[in-house]
Amino acid sequence: MLRHLIDIEDLSIEEISALLDTADDIIANPAAYSEVCRGKKLATLFFEPSTRTRLSFEAAMMELGGNVLGFSSADTSSASKGESVADTVRVVSCYADIIAMRHPKEGAPMVGAQFADVPIINAGDGGHNHPTQTLTDLLTIRREKGRLDKLTVGLCGDLKFGRTVHSLIAALSRYENIRFVLIAPEELRLPQYVLRDVLERRGCDYVEVEEMEPVMGELDILYMTRVQKERFFNEADYIRLKDTYILDTEKLSLAKPDLSVMHPLPRVNEISVQVDNDPRACYFRQARNGKYVRMALIKKLLEAAKEA
Ligand code: CP
Repeated sequence: MLRHLIDIEDLSIEEISALLDTADDIIANPAAYSEVCRGKKLATLFFEPSTRTRLSFEAAMMELGGNVLGFSSADTSSASKGESVADTVRVVSCYADIIAMRHPKEGAPMVGAQFADVPIINAGDGGHNHPTQTLTDLLTIRREKGRLDKLTVGLCGDLKFGRTVHSLIAALSRYENIRFVLIAPEELRLPQYVLRDVLERRGCDYVEVEEMEPVMGELDILYMTRVQKERFFNEADYIRLKDTYILDTEKLSLAKPDLSVMHPLPRVNEISVQVDNDPRACYFRQARNGKYVRMALIKKLLEAAKEA
């Protein structure tokens, strides 16, 4: 059967573990993977801006020996003439062996998967999900901490629209003894559907707070997020909320010596550049990990397509 990756829950814990093992092996032995996608093409269909996700997907395919094609905005594709996602994906399936799609509308990659003849990877859909960022985050946590269980994880900033947060919670809530500390202003709290259908259904330990300083000392991981201007209908609300949390060296001094500070990036103001020099800042290592885990994923989905 053709496998897609639309939601992180499309992967079992065992499959996630195997993907992270492959990513670790690629990091250790890149030459062993340099031909595994020879003759294959990845199409990157990005209807919304991106730096890390699109370029790391493209670098991943090139380092596997394959080729890439695609577009980086809706304006430069026939979506600007009114073409549907279904038709776009049907046509691109004739040109490429696998597709990574980012779209501002929640559910667009799932629609694409219903019409594609090749695997579709959700590279971020609106405020919904970002499963390959989650694989990146899980690889980073495992490499930094040596485990994916028994952790207190602080998620800070825009928990309402933050698709990276929604996917990461869906993934980490499946591991043992994860405690979530949800740090957000009232207006940007985690949506009820994530609280109810994920955290409460799975019996996870969580707390919601508005201030970061009092909880800093409890955290093993602090996952900072940007307040996303593009998700607000009202600019005044964005301006009022955008600098609610700024992690600086003073706040970091309240944290454990082995805290890992993560961020999916891009950052705006929410982490001071002085924090970049602290060994606990792992967000640039995290961005690097994204390429390796996407290499592992492309390899897995193309192998599954061959067997389908
Ligand atoms: N983390 C992430 O999705 O970054 P881009 O928007 O640059 O792809």
